[in-house]
Amino acid sequence: MCGACRVEVNGETKFACVDGPEFDGHEVDWENITFRLRQFIAEEELSHGIWERKNWHKLVDISPRNFGSMVNPKQQKMKITI
Ligand code: FES
Repeated sequence: MCGACRVEVNGETKFACVDGPEFDGHEVDWENITFRLRQFIAEEELSHGIWERKNWHKLVDISPRNFGSMVNPKQQKMKITI
């Protein structure tokens, strides 16, 4: 058991994968579960930044329609304001 789905329900520790997945929402300790889910936000943001730097090219739309205008400057319309 990894404990990732652990939740406090009416003062008892439950596991969604074993005891759930549905619980009475009024009896769930939301403060506890919210704290647990947010405790690695800094690490998740760091990890996401590393992934983005390595995979930025996957985030760019390089479909032929867009690729043509990216490599041919004549097709690009630039507005220069001075
Ligand atoms: S204990 Fe790991 S998913 Fe439930």
